[in-house]
Amino acid sequence: MPSINACLFDLDGVIVDTAKYHYIAWRRLANDLGFDLTLEQNERLKGVSRIESLEIILTIGGVHLTDEEKAEHAAEKNVRYLELCQQMTPEDTLPGVRTFIDELKATGMRVGLGSASKNAKVILERIGMLEYFDTIVDGNRVTKGKPDPQVFLLGAEDLNTSPENCVVFEDAVAGIQSARSAGMLAIGVGEKSVLTEADFVIEGFANFRVHDLIELSI
Ligand code: BG6
Ligand code: MG
Repeated sequence: MPSINACLFDLDGVIVDTAKYHYIAWRRLANDLGFDLTLEQNERLKGVSRIESLEIILTIGGVHLTDEEKAEHAAEKNVRYLELCQQMTPEDTLPGVRTFIDELKATGMRVGLGSASKNAKVILERIGMLEYFDTIVDGNRVTKGKPDPQVFLLGAEDLNTSPENCVVFEDAVAGIQSARSAGMLAIGVGEKSVLTEADFVIEGFANFRVHDLIELSI
């Protein structure tokens, strides 16, 4: 296996626990439209862009809206989401991830962010991690969302490396598919039963160190 010189991290659900805020904001929108959104249904929204998430929710509820109404609802959801994010602090960073990235950088590994979120920089700033990444590829930059490989391919390009030398950390099914089709090693962060297409799955970064990564990638 080629040697790994770069790690690309998804944001929501990998670096920080924003999934609960996305869920609350989407659920409120569904409730406003007259139906409920379960946690299981919410799983389908992970890694997917804002507007595509809305389309999935509308399909679940069997609701038809005009493009203009869709844009209004997506904007309203984002206002609610950002309000909820106001309460976020560096404490909301998921356990161990900061130490893991520090350790990666100390070994000379390049580190990038690959996220579907248009709020990525705001969130990183809130948790004090804006300066951690050598590159940030976010929802404002990509034209094709996950599972398309674009987000991670751009990350590799920015970091001057090749896809086969990159590892991706992802909590979403769409993100794992994106990493795999980019030709990168895909490490799922979460549950094995959900992230079935990942090369490996870890529970989180609390007990994961750089030597564990090196063992997985040889
Ligand atoms: C992804 C999240 O990281 O970003 C999705 O997993 C979210 O749930 C998507 O819909 C877009 O985020 P935002 O912040 O641009 O609405
Ligand atoms: Mg995610």
